[in-house]
Amino acid sequence: MKTRIGVLTAGRDCAGINSAIQWITYSALDKDLVPVRGMMFEVIGIIDGWKGLIEVKPDKKDSLKRWTVQLDTDLVRTWDRSGGTRLGTSVINPFDPKKDQSGLIIENMKKLGLEALVVIGGIDNLGAAYKLFREGVKVVGIPKTIDKDLSETDYTLGFDSAVNWITDDIDRIRVTAGSHSRIFVVETMGRKAGWLALEGGEASGSAITLIPEHDFVMERVAELLVKRKKEGKRYSIVLVAEGAKPRGMPEVLERRGQDGFGRVYLGGIGGFLAEHLEKTANLEVRYVALRHLQRGGSPSAYDRRMGRKFGIAAVDMIANDDFGRMVSLKLGEIGTVPMKKALEHMSLVDVEKYYNTMYYRSKDRVL
Ligand code: F6P
Repeated sequence: MKTRIGVLTAGRDCAGINSAIQWITYSALDKDLVPVRGMMFEVIGIIDGWKGLIEVKPDKKDSLKRWTVQLDTDLVRTWDRSGGTRLGTSVINPFDPKKDQSGLIIENMKKLGLEALVVIGGIDNLGAAYKLFREGVKVVGIPKTIDKDLSETDYTLGFDSAVNWITDDIDRIRVTAGSHSRIFVVETMGRKAGWLALEGGEASGSAITLIPEHDFVMERVAELLVKRKKEGKRYSIVLVAEGAKPRGMPEVLERRGQDGFGRVYLGGIGGFLAEHLEKTANLEVRYVALRHLQRGGSPSAYDRRMGRKFGIAAVDMIANDDFGRMVSLKLGEIGTVPMKKALEHMSLVDVEKYYNTMYYRSKDRVL
């Protein structure tokens, strides 16, 4: 008898997810591991995340074809090198108070014969997965988000690729900034966490990095840029996280409304800051929001490798009956942590430890 497991990707896409799916499939279907694990698996990919488990009509052939896919080693063989998610995703909260669909998900899982579910998600979707676990579903989680805001793990899939794209884009921006002696304000994603901006700033050598964890003073940013100009620097890059805010002001929202998990859409602080700097400091400023460019593209070598490790670990967890837990990386070691613990709080930049609040950049000392 084979144990049928489902795999779904929920929430926003990012690089590294497909590698995880590939290796879940490889590991689950590895014949050499059958005697070691004492069980055989079958892997069903769910199309478009929670939406697939909500929409599927398990007794209808066409619907099964639309919302599920049997994963085998031939099918997934080259998935590791592509970005995004080959299974598709959706931003749906199964436990939305306005329309709770968790019951339907559990029912459809039963009808599909899914004995366990691997959820590849960020904080909100692993939160939903954990609630399903509490309702009796055998769930394991794989952390993915370019925001790297999940705690109890040092890594979330997609982060390294996003930092690479930020670095790459800033290399291009630097060329034109230098030619014209301009200031460029570059906005990153990251939501409430400053990791993307901070590590992107370190990798790209930006002059100033503004993060959500420390409110900045506009006049100080202007002062630092004018000082750099006086020192003979032809251009400066100011990296600002979408969730960063000037002291005494709220976050800048991209558009009204909230997603299914009640989160607002951030964005626009870069434009706001650029305009202010141009007006008050008499500097020539341009603004670029990197937006979804950070999430696209092919995965970095690190994301492919981490996807592989996280994927294999998820199958090991199922084989070990280790449910309600999330794969994690801690101090270079792959392990598992209780989902509940990982979801208790967000991982944010420790300003004291990592941020220079005088010059708005990463700390200059590491020891
Ligand atoms: O959580 C990942 C993330 O890319 C955030 O950094 C960003 O705020 C948000 O998703 C953007 O969401 P959407 O793709 O729905 O615009």
